[in-house]
Amino acid sequence: MKVLHVAAEVFPLVKTGGLADVVAALPPAQAQQGADVRLLLPGLPAVLDAVQGARCVIDIGSCFGAMRVRLLLARMPGHRLPVYVVDAPYLYRRGGSPYQDPQGEEWPDNLQRFALLGWVAAHLAAEDADPQWAPDIVHAHDWHAAMACAYVAEHAPTRAATVYTVHNLAFQGLFQMHDWPMLGLASRLMSPSGLEYHGQLSFMKAGLAFADAVTTVSPSYAREVATHEFGCGLDGVIRGRIEPVVGILNGIDEAVWDPATDPAIAQRYDAERMDGKRACRLALQRELGLDADDDALLVAIVSRLTSQKGLDLLLAALPSLLAQGVQLAVQGTGEPALEAAFRMAQQAHPGRVQVHIGYDEARAHRLVAGADVIAVPSRFEPCGLTQMYGLRYGTLPLVRRVGGLADTVVDATPERQADGSATGFVFDAPSAAALEGAAARALALRRDPARWRALQVAAMARELSWAGPARAYRALYERLCAAA
Ligand code: ADP
Ligand code: GLC
Repeated sequence: MKVLHVAAEVFPLVKTGGLADVVAALPPAQAQQGADVRLLLPGLPAVLDAVQGARCVIDIGSCFGAMRVRLLLARMPGHRLPVYVVDAPYLYRRGGSPYQDPQGEEWPDNLQRFALLGWVAAHLAAEDADPQWAPDIVHAHDWHAAMACAYVAEHAPTRAATVYTVHNLAFQGLFQMHDWPMLGLASRLMSPSGLEYHGQLSFMKAGLAFADAVTTVSPSYAREVATHEFGCGLDGVIRGRIEPVVGILNGIDEAVWDPATDPAIAQRYDAERMDGKRACRLALQRELGLDADDDALLVAIVSRLTSQKGLDLLLAALPSLLAQGVQLAVQGTGEPALEAAFRMAQQAHPGRVQVHIGYDEARAHRLVAGADVIAVPSRFEPCGLTQMYGLRYGTLPLVRRVGGLADTVVDATPERQADGSATGFVFDAPSAAALEGAAARALALRRDPARWRALQVAAMARELSWAGPARAYRALYERLCAAA
């Protein structure tokens, strides 16, 4: 089975969120199970730096407004899987994030930048980009890669099937309809059953409408996206698909996130040797300038600071939480209003609240290892990875019952504590009061070390590897190939 993953990000080269972690870890897990897996990435500066010495597979020439486009082939640093890189200096060699300029504005030529990525994927599928290798499955991730599904369906004489994974329905890749001619697609696709979305052009719809199978990153989110509340305007399109969206829960990279081997943390530990976790907690309090308070409930947040993540609920509950003995350590970047609100909280509560506005991978590991609780109070959450990192590190998640959070954390009700399955604290309503209620239960339980430890043991034992999800994707691929 030959599989091509198409994506805009991959950890550790380019990362704006969990997508990068998934694209780094799922392909090697599939390769370990015997699949012939390759990646296709845009030639962003960090990617080009990492694949120096790459071989040119084909000189594509000029397309999508770029004068010189080449397809390179190299090996990914780390797991060494083959990676195709679209080298289009005019479109990709620039600073800022993959999607936005340094001022936070969407790049004005994102349509060309990500149409090109999908177009190259379709040519690989059609066997006319690399005569030596063509995929059976083109697996496109998020709107950035979604055009692959439209180009494969429309252009490529191929037997390849397409899988489109929605990591976040809120980011849709919407463009002006007058740019349609640049895509080189038949005008009949410029309709509501094609890419048109309320007078605009939607890359997300290219995936939803044309992929042979659409998946998302948890079973709960797969159900939610078909509802008005979570469908981001596309629930009708999703309900209209003949086959429903399949939910396959993400795993985590257990080599990168393992307290027993983590080089970033103060002392390594595992479920049998938890004194290392106490050392990490103390070291974190010291590093952050938090009071060395043994009795505090040290709550960490490592997150994009956006409305999706529900952190305004936590800010609203904060005075009461602090009064009950919570300490808060935040690391994130995002909306200026949320950044400012967290900075103010730190100023108002020295020694109890510490906020780092920034992105820092090693520091994220120290927060996850040192905290008692990791809070993810999201309004919606397709999967969420940080609560799973928390589970692995015995840092109990405090989450809202939504999307992948609902699928990964077992609330510490008396029944679930009694049967040993409880792993964290879950609340329902998107309200500060509901969050406070769950936090109060965490505070109470932390005063009972034996029961707290039982939750940690259950959390750390939870199966989180990519092996199961990789098998689930393989079963889906096999079904599609058999149908082709
Ligand atoms: P999302 O993709 O919606 O942002 P996820 O929980 O799936 O949410 O993944 C977020 C990823 O980004 C995790 O690996 C998390 O550790 C990381 N992350 C988010 N913000 C930061 C930050 N400020 N510093 C370091 N890592 C961060
Ligand atoms: C998205 C989602 C997040 C998910 C990640 C990886 O960014 O917001 O919930 O974990 O993709 O699939």
